[in-house]
Amino acid sequence: MEIPSNCILIIFGASGDLAKRKLIPALFSLHIQNRLPEGFAVLGIGRTPLDDTAFRERLSKQVHEFYSGAVDAEAWSAFSQRLFYLTMSPENAEDYPQLKERLAQLDAEYKVGGNYIYYLSIAPSVYGTIVTNLGKQGLQKEESCTQCWKRLIIEKPFGYDLASGQELNRKVLKVFREVQVYRIDHYLGKETVQNILVFRFSNGIFEPLWNRNFISHIEITAAEKAGVEGRGEYYDSAGVIRDMVQNHLLQVLGIVAMEPPASFQADTVRNETVKVLSALRPIRPENIESQVIRGQYVSATIEGQKVRGYRDEDKVPPYSRTETYIAMKLFIDNWRWGGVPFFIRAGKRLPTRVTEVVIHFKPTPQILFEDHDAPAQSIPNQLIIRIQPNEGILLKFGMKLPGAGFQVKTVSMDFHYANLSDTHVPEAYERLLLDCMLGDATLYARRDAVESCWEFIDPILRKDAENLESRIFSYPAGTWGPRQANDLFNGYSDGWRSPCKNLAQDGQYCEL
Ligand code: BG6
Repeated sequence: MEIPSNCILIIFGASGDLAKRKLIPALFSLHIQNRLPEGFAVLGIGRTPLDDTAFRERLSKQVHEFYSGAVDAEAWSAFSQRLFYLTMSPENAEDYPQLKERLAQLDAEYKVGGNYIYYLSIAPSVYGTIVTNLGKQGLQKEESCTQCWKRLIIEKPFGYDLASGQELNRKVLKVFREVQVYRIDHYLGKETVQNILVFRFSNGIFEPLWNRNFISHIEITAAEKAGVEGRGEYYDSAGVIRDMVQNHLLQVLGIVAMEPPASFQADTVRNETVKVLSALRPIRPENIESQVIRGQYVSATIEGQKVRGYRDEDKVPPYSRTETYIAMKLFIDNWRWGGVPFFIRAGKRLPTRVTEVVIHFKPTPQILFEDHDAPAQSIPNQLIIRIQPNEGILLKFGMKLPGAGFQVKTVSMDFHYANLSDTHVPEAYERLLLDCMLGDATLYARRDAVESCWEFIDPILRKDAENLESRIFSYPAGTWGPRQANDLFNGYSDGWRSPCKNLAQDGQYCEL
């Protein structure tokens, strides 16, 4: 178990949502597992006037809500002694000498030797300013100490479109070198997403089938039951394309579709995902309407409760045309995937929370076993990789029903992560924060990957922005999105795999 070198994590936006919901609970969990170095401190930064004690007290209250297990009072008390706070305005260059001084104090106290991680958990509009301000104080420099490092973690969105994404990269890379920049995509930190790599590249049996010769099509679904949950203002300027597709879903696609890397080094792996992302076939403007289905949820009653429509959510304009659902069909133009469609969809206020990848294998060339009472059908072999919840893998294939004749029934073979019960499954942020401390960027998005994603997404965003008549379909909250999303499958199957059965009786029951 490798323990990182002593370091300080500086969180810009420490009084915000991400810090309390994800970052502090993840760090606390690492503390409990003894994965943090002896000399480790967190310096929270924010405009909210707080001192160290008030910051700790605030987090002590919040941790009970956001930490997944029971909070051990003694462990928390020891951990909280590592938390510090500095009230300053991240936009104000004059506040940075203060930051430098505080860092020097903590550095001496914790024997950190100049190892700092700056975490931008703040409005993206100020990323550029913060980076410039850090640069003015030389706080990014690694030459100022022997063998020390300075790293920068940036949260998505990495820009608003291709031009602003490139501009942000330029600004950041004026101050930091690319190897110092860690663009976090928490989907890459999910155990089951990483397991796709292990599943594909540590087993001899699947990889030979993983191509256009054996696979008919692939689905990737990221469904959420929740609505925009008080984030109406942000969400309305983003929409699901920027919020989920440009980053999370395309990164997952990169992992599903990549070539085997020659080694498991950060850049070797990332070179392969970039190749996939840059081979995405651009969707031509005249095909956007037929390949991209946009939807927005409207009010409905779910489990006896009336749920607001998107346009009635707080801080969402009443005539908003922002999409809360997207389904698209795309192609990767390379030898492995030529002609294989990938169907991806994401949305809010769908019937349940589920993220999964479904690999549909081609049918047998001949149907030998016909059921006389039903039309001849080949058994669809599917491999379902469930990313969340009920993390696991399910393989579907045909078996003979006992008895006379040759009736074939689809059966499943499944593996559940929960069965590895004695193993702690780390939260995405735990894994990613630790990796950054260890200097491992494998699961972080590189500049070229982010820009390739924007290149693919940009024409779709532009078409929607330019064409106020572009279609957006409504769907009742609590349903699987507009029915037009099934038409994308013309010629492949009847539509999206339904991850859940018996929804009418039990909204939570999902296969796997
Ligand atoms: C975030 C999006 O990046 O991912 C949210 O901004 C979304 O809108 C969330 O709800 C989904 O993450 P997860 O881990 O719950 O699937």
